[in-house]
Amino acid sequence: MISLPKVEKLKPKTQPHNFFIWGATMSGKSYFASYFPNPLVLNTDGNSEQGSAPSIQIRNIRGENGALKQSAIRQLDDIITALQVENSKRSADQQFKTIVIDVIDDICVMIEQAICLDAGVQALSDIPYGKGYAMFNTALQQFVMDLKALPMNVIYISRELSITDDNTGVTTYEPSLKTKYYNIVNGNCDVVIRTKKIGDGQNASYLREVKALRTMYNPANITDHRILQLLESCSGMFKKEDLEKLQQKKESK
Ligand SMILES: Nc1ncnc2c1ncn2[C@@H]1O[C@H](COP(=O)(O)OP(=O)(O)OP(=O)(O)O)[C@@H](O)[C@H]1O
Ligand SMILES: [Mg+2]
Repeated sequence: MISLPKVEKLKPKTQPHNFFIWGATMSGKSYFASYFPNPLVLNTDGNSEQGSAPSIQIRNIRGENGALKQSAIRQLDDIITALQVENSKRSADQQFKTIVIDVIDDICVMIEQAICLDAGVQALSDIPYGKGYAMFNTALQQFVMDLKALPMNVIYISRELSITDDNTGVTTYEPSLKTKYYNIVNGNCDVVIRTKKIGDGQNASYLREVKALRTMYNPANITDHRILQLLESCSGMFKKEDLEKLQQKKESK
């Protein structure tokens, strides 16, 4: 029989492992993600050869008859299986420690496409009784949950959407991932970061600001030095006094 845990108040030493990064094009999303420890990039936009991290191109490939030859869903599934099985068998310096989904918007479209091509329809709504949507939700949810279960950092990258209110003229910015997909993905993320580029050309400076946090993270609990450095470069990630305390501790050592 299962034994239930004791009733007690726990003091967890939490660390973030799942990140959501969004921002305008060329604002430094892929650049930032590539500095995480041993990254593997699942790329969708074909500009992977410009990045410095090893990458796999995700795509649906159609055969001559128009039917699916390689489905993105299958491909993602195979990659996750390989990471579960093969990654842990590698020597420590050859193990991937971070998986980057660049960009999740496109992955969602590819999952949708794969389901449609498989069923021989134009859109999810053409599959009767809402089964298309149900299949899509299951596939996306499964993908996100499988990634979360891997002993790795997971980074989802999304583009930026600017919306200008016609009445007030105020422009607001948000991730371009559709809200219903955003909720599925973000329900499994710990930190949401927005990247921003200020200035142009050689004068550009790159900013990162934290938009949402699952809990208040203490920099003293972050065990990986690289990740600590990266997170310190994001404004609003840690409390100032916690960072000062950590600094004092380092100096006294
Ligand atoms: N923090 C930084 N310091 C210096 N250069 C940077 C920084 N961040 C980004 N860059 C430069 O900006 C360029 C564009 O960045 P990056 O490719 O990460 O943009 P992106 O947000 O992923 O854009 P896209 O949405 O088009 O993929 C990079 O080639 C890099 O040289
Ligand atoms: Mg990019």
